[in-house]
Amino acid sequence: MAQRKPIVAGNWKMNGSIELVSEISTAVNECKNKQVDVIVFPPAALLTKMAEFGVEVGTQTISEFDSGAYTGELSAELAKQLGATYTLVGHSERRAIFGESNEAVANKFAKAQENGLIPVLCVGETEEQRESGETEKVVAEQINAVISKLGIAALSNSVLAYEPVWAIGTGKTATPEQAQAVHKFIRDMLSTQSEPVAQALQILYGGSVNDKNSKSLFTQPDIDGGLIGGASLKADAFVSICNSALGNV
Ligand code: PGA
Repeated sequence: MAQRKPIVAGNWKMNGSIELVSEISTAVNECKNKQVDVIVFPPAALLTKMAEFGVEVGTQTISEFDSGAYTGELSAELAKQLGATYTLVGHSERRAIFGESNEAVANKFAKAQENGLIPVLCVGETEEQRESGETEKVVAEQINAVISKLGIAALSNSVLAYEPVWAIGTGKTATPEQAQAVHKFIRDMLSTQSEPVAQALQILYGGSVNDKNSKSLFTQPDIDGGLIGGASLKADAFVSICNSALGNV
């Protein structure tokens, strides 16, 4: 099996403050090491400040357009100038609350790569979809929207995050077995198109990950780390989640 470096990513959503930037940055810098990549996705207004602490940062979304009359949007080019190296695309809150379609997400994915940002493509099913047996279909459609626009090779410079919508912010984590089953489905599906791309792709799990459950999730063979929401706002919990990704290389 390919050796994939684990990633622990913190998604602050619309939370945090200048004070929290310095608190979390100090904690992240203390646990920085060569065996796990730690990335923080703070609100865009805090990007530069956090990058100045030497923490790897990304944006929570980017515009699918280059520039122009799109009030409130942030371009990939500007995100890069602000210090971002990654960007989330297609987070379920963007899809559900802001109506982002699979096509818009694919456009954002493309725009990120054109501007030298690594996209973290977020996919996942709702509770209703899981209950009606549509998990694999939904996840496949979300990923295929990117592949049909850009080709399978585009995934080799990206990260994937499987985040079941019913597990986000609910305290209802997928079991390690449930998460592993979907991660394996994704990797198998991609390997029919390119075995090297499928084996090298880091696939993160997200949805109510905390310092108690991270280890059992991260030790699953196809789970390469996590995308952490609520627990990434607490320095102690986030550091212990980062540490729990060690040894999983
Ligand atoms: P959560 O959020 O860890 O608070 O469930 C995860 C996410 O939305 O990325």
